Amino acid sequence: MKITTRVRSLLLLGLGFTVVLLTAGSLAWSQTPELSKTNSLPWMDRSLSPDQRADMVLKQMTLDEKIQLVHGTGWGVLRQGDPVPPRSNLGAGFVPGIERLGIPDINLADSAVGIRMAALQSRYATLLPSSLALAATWNLEAANLFGSVIGRELRDQGFNMSIGGGVDLAREPRNGRGFEYAGEDPVLAGSIAGNLMKGLQSQQVMGDIKHYAVNDQETGRSILNVVLDKRSLRESDLLAFQIAIAIAEPAGVMCSYNKLNGDYACENDYLLNQVLKKDFGFKGFVLSDWDGTHSSVNAVLNGLDMEMPGDGFLGDPLKKAIESGQIPQARLDDMVHRILRSMFATGVVDNPTMPRRVVDPFRGRDDSQQIAEQGIVLLKNADHLLPLAADHYKTIAVIGSHADAGVLSGGGSAQVDAPGGNAINPKHGASQWQKPVYFPSAPLKYIREKARNAKVEYNDGSDPAAAATLAKSSELAIVFVNQYMCEDRDSETLSLPENQDALVRAVAAANPHSIVVLETGGPVSMPWVKDVKAILAAWYPGIGGGQAVANILFGDVNPSGKLPITFAKTEADLPHPQVPGMDLQTKARAAGQRIGPFDVDYTEGVKVGYKWFEAEKKEPLFPFGFGLSYTTYNYSGLQVDEKQRQVTFSVKNAGSRAGAEIAQVYVELPASANEPFNRLVAWERIQLAPGESKTITLPLTPLYLSIFDEAKNDWQLLPGDYKVFVGPSSSESPLTANLSIHE
Ligand code: BGC
Repeated sequence: MKITTRVRSLLLLGLGFTVVLLTAGSLAWSQTPELSKTNSLPWMDRSLSPDQRADMVLKQMTLDEKIQLVHGTGWGVLRQGDPVPPRSNLGAGFVPGIERLGIPDINLADSAVGIRMAALQSRYATLLPSSLALAATWNLEAANLFGSVIGRELRDQGFNMSIGGGVDLAREPRNGRGFEYAGEDPVLAGSIAGNLMKGLQSQQVMGDIKHYAVNDQETGRSILNVVLDKRSLRESDLLAFQIAIAIAEPAGVMCSYNKLNGDYACENDYLLNQVLKKDFGFKGFVLSDWDGTHSSVNAVLNGLDMEMPGDGFLGDPLKKAIESGQIPQARLDDMVHRILRSMFATGVVDNPTMPRRVVDPFRGRDDSQQIAEQGIVLLKNADHLLPLAADHYKTIAVIGSHADAGVLSGGGSAQVDAPGGNAINPKHGASQWQKPVYFPSAPLKYIREKARNAKVEYNDGSDPAAAATLAKSSELAIVFVNQYMCEDRDSETLSLPENQDALVRAVAAANPHSIVVLETGGPVSMPWVKDVKAILAAWYPGIGGGQAVANILFGDVNPSGKLPITFAKTEADLPHPQVPGMDLQTKARAAGQRIGPFDVDYTEGVKVGYKWFEAEKKEPLFPFGFGLSYTTYNYSGLQVDEKQRQVTFSVKNAGSRAGAEIAQVYVELPASANEPFNRLVAWERIQLAPGESKTITLPLTPLYLSIFDEAKNDWQLLPGDYKVFVGPSSSESPLTANLSIHE
């Protein structure tokens, strides 16, 4: 039996013990073959290119060895009941190496925001903020740091491949996995994910970008067929992958569960052969999402290089297809070459993951908190209520979201295990599938530390009336609200779950100085937006989250994050007021049946997120790119250099606090493009001391200004008049200019 998501958690419970027992005796294994024997092999010469080295190994390999390298096991075993391969590191996947040729095993771990499933073996892994929070920093160095934390810890734990790196575009703000991705704009998302993966691979660990492609919702993810025209695809979802892959040159790209225009993504010639390998020039290997392989010949000929996990298609059936000539030998050699060259290119052959080390939790926490502090977005700050003066308040109410215990994390295969167990239920060891896990970084503790003269009382928020009573007797009320999101299910609505809107309303009615802190996977609606004074979007802020939130509330850190995703007022304003297929799923479940295949027709095309809102003239609750600061910034002096294709402008910090402004450049294409909305084409995160002014020059990258011409199957920079907008968000452009392009 193959391991499906459904049996995964059951299996893991059983595996927890068996695995530890089975491997206990083999802990002293040499994970890579004895170096003394293999160091002298000719392909160990580091002066040769990864491709040359891969080819040399390939020539020595038998057919069976090649087949062995193009599929693997998952969570320790291939089939229920099988023994765990002794050298498996018990991550999501394991591909045994070729010892006689000095090719190490590949141990793969889920690691979107930190390494998953560490608790099963009493390992520690840093929980980083959500990837969406990272995108809210708009900071490519932060992305690099984020990736390097994951890479460092993977290596410390003995893994040499990550299967994180999500960059599916946020077409669907209710997507259960939106927190694992980098938002709705292809240029921002691709740049963030690419730099993340570059940072990860800098630790000599193989990286991966996923889920390729248009796996933009969880509802029916393995049975739905996305319908989307090629131009829209290339200018939106696929552009994010294109950018990320160009930046990181990742070892792997994971193809997704869904179909695209009729074919499964993992056997889709257009996606894999034509676009990824030919147009993007991707040199690494395509691995299937877990159990996302559907055939042998079809999949391999259409571009799949590795089945994960299992051998149902790329084990014996592949061998037979090679022997019978249904699949040319050259194609198998290409698959193996791609895997080997990625191992050489990233350094996993030359730098074995032994000996292991204890992960440095302090360093991880500092790095995580630093990123969280840059990604928290201040959405509202009426009457400059924030930052709070530490000595000013005598009584503060802290309400809701287990703020006395910790901060929420996202679930599914991005779940990291909390040190000491779930902060709200420490008795539970490893995390459980689709059960919220809180990390022990309690905002209450840090608020108490800062507000030295105040009595800070906590109410759990389960009873809005009781919370309101506490709020009424306090000078200030800070309400924490959350939205738990995880893989394999979407949120039905944009509303906060569990009556939390009523909680905020009750508190706001009781206390005119109410602040809301959101710990959410993505955007939520806020029917109470006018009733509260201040709002912070803290996302899932990671292991240093409580402290990061307190640092922002009290002004130790000046907020600088900006939204990487639009917050709609209501789902009625979205391109799809209901998550596509959700109604079918509800009906099927009610009838005790499984949902059948369905199409998701993304009729909005390229108009994802803010582009939709602009083109449809809908006003969002908070626009893409928006975020406030405790200081103010003035923009001036926009110049467009048409020849050099670049823009220059100045930003001044007009306030009395140091801060970082994310200045954004948008462009509207000539009318002939028929794209009546702006596109983000450049940005800069500018650190400014009080009163300081900086002049910035940013490139207008031709790709970001181009349209995809389907007939020519190529990008085209249209001649004509472009409009350039520069400012603090997608909806505010103090500076505008024209740009003429006439080739
Ligand atoms: C998820 C992937 C994940 C894999 C292994 C799949 O269900 O979609 O993102 O990497 O499982 O855990």
